Amino acid sequence: MPQSADPSPADQIATVFYSRSGHSRSVAQDLAQSLGGPLFELLVPRYDMAILGFMRAGYDSLWLNHPAPQNDIPSLSDYGAVGLCGPIWTSYPATPLRHILAKRSDLPTRVGLFLTCDAHSPPHKAYSTAEADLGRSLTAMATLSNKNEDAGSRRQLIADFAQTLKASCTDNAPV
Ligand SMILES: Cc1cc2nc3c(=O)[nH]c(=O)nc-3n(C[C@H](O)[C@H](O)[C@H](O)COP(=O)(O)O)c2cc1C
Repeated sequence: MPQSADPSPADQIATVFYSRSGHSRSVAQDLAQSLGGPLFELLVPRYDMAILGFMRAGYDSLWLNHPAPQNDIPSLSDYGAVGLCGPIWTSYPATPLRHILAKRSDLPTRVGLFLTCDAHSPPHKAYSTAEADLGRSLTAMATLSNKNEDAGSRRQLIADFAQTLKASCTDNAPV
């Protein structure tokens, strides 16, 4: 019996994430499982140290320094969509996410943004900032606060986000 071929990237949705303290990593892992595509982590060592890293993160976010991740991730252009996941910093998407949104010219048309936060800022400013960086509308948006990360609503939020991205990739979905 012939083996079925691996799906081509065009039929897959990649998950790309940055996580400084682990909350977004856990979401991204579950999201990648729901989306059924590859998972790529962005590494930015300048934020790794506990106090100094926190201060750098806040400073860079406020002063619009969006450093490039130190690791290479493969071209994203052939994927049907990308789900980008990471924290809110100072009411904006964390700087590694902003670098990807603004500078990666190989992002596919459909990009979803899944944010984690401490729930002391509404996510709308982060969404509009992300859309301005990207230069177009986001295909899917979601925000999970750390206090809800063990709640049933987390699973639903991830499922709904994945479903929106998947539906956008069907043949007749508007771009
Ligand atoms: C420098 C910095 C700034 C932050 N600013 C906000 C904020 O404006 N609003 C908020 O709700 N949470 C804020 N947070 C909390 C993170 O968004 C939250 O803890 C997130 O889940 C961390 O994700 P991670 O563990 O994947 O790094 C901030 C965290 C850091 C390090």
